[in-house]
Amino acid sequence: MSSIIHVQDLVKTFKIYHDHKGYLGAIRNLFDRKYDLVHAVDQINFDIHPGELVGYIGPNGAGKSTTIKMLTGLLVPTSGEVRVNGYIPWKERKTYVKHIGAVFGQRTTLWWDLPLSDSLTLLQHIYEIPDPLYKKNLAMFREILELDAFMNTPVRSLSLGQRMRADLCAAMLHDPKLVFLDEPTIGLDVVAKERIREFIQFINRERGTTILLTTHDIADVAKLCERVMIIDHGKIVFDGKLDHLLRTYGGRRFLSVQFAEIYPEPVLENADIIKMEGNNVVYSFMRDTVSASHLIHKLSESYRIADLEVNDQPIEDTIREIYEKQLLYNHNHDKKNPAS
Ligand SMILES: Nc1ncnc2c1ncn2[C@@H]1O[C@H](COP(=O)(O)OP(=O)(O)OP(=O)(O)O)[C@@H](O)[C@H]1O
Ligand SMILES: [Mg+2]
Repeated sequence: MSSIIHVQDLVKTFKIYHDHKGYLGAIRNLFDRKYDLVHAVDQINFDIHPGELVGYIGPNGAGKSTTIKMLTGLLVPTSGEVRVNGYIPWKERKTYVKHIGAVFGQRTTLWWDLPLSDSLTLLQHIYEIPDPLYKKNLAMFREILELDAFMNTPVRSLSLGQRMRADLCAAMLHDPKLVFLDEPTIGLDVVAKERIREFIQFINRERGTTILLTTHDIADVAKLCERVMIIDHGKIVFDGKLDHLLRTYGGRRFLSVQFAEIYPEPVLENADIIKMEGNNVVYSFMRDTVSASHLIHKLSESYRIADLEVNDQPIEDTIREIYEKQLLYNHNHDKKNPAS
């Protein structure tokens, strides 16, 4: 199957100027302007196939938004190649945007002072959406996203959750083949997040829309994405199934035991004691090394147990460990010798 998004050796480098201050400084700036280079996106490669819903994650400043801005044609790459649905985004932006939708959670793409309904009408004209399609989509999104209560409210007065639903509607009105979502759940409460997730899933499943989703909430990815790409310091450090990522790096489990009496040192082979308070002890162990049932069996041979519980490490913690320890650098072919 051919890809709908093709990214090859993509680079975006920003120049940050340090200007000399004052009047004389202004003159110096003319011939001696100092700058630093920020390698926001540093030689990335990936392909996305039609109908995929891919999670694009990474720590703050990793290069996610910069990537999305290049894919939507808002930024021109320093070098490399981007082809989306047959277009070079920044070259053919006017026609290109009719085929894509984009939501930037950090700022709205709607007109701040206009009532939502007017913003949507304007978009119909900009995207040249035929009347029947516009009416059909608007009716559907009004219902699913529950927009009716604030259709006549100026966008600037909408709550964050309402604004996000409005932006999602605006991004989908013209039936785009592809949608770029940059933090569509940022700052929302649990219920609002869930509603947005359901909408994203609906668009992907029912319409086969290809979606690239950026988020800091790993629950978004766990719920929605089979495939995940992790970017860090401008480089893609993982691209594969979320399952695989968690199996490889998230194998840690916890066994919490309440003993029937206090034991001074209830050691257990293949498991570390990470917490001990009276007769309550928490062990940590790796899924690949030993099974929970084996550990429980061993414990009960030597000690009297009142109660116990086994838990997996939460996905959030696994991902945080990956960011913090830069575990994945070992898997990155051009960083064979991790600096840390
Ligand atoms: N217009 C710009 N001028 C200079 N530097 C920029 C510009 N835009 C982004 N950067 C820098 O590029 C790097 C990547 O930024 P980017 O916004 O892509 O990160 P991100 O992964 O989206 O982070 P976050 O999770 O915080 O949104 C950062 O170091 C940022 O400061
Ligand atoms: Mg960002």
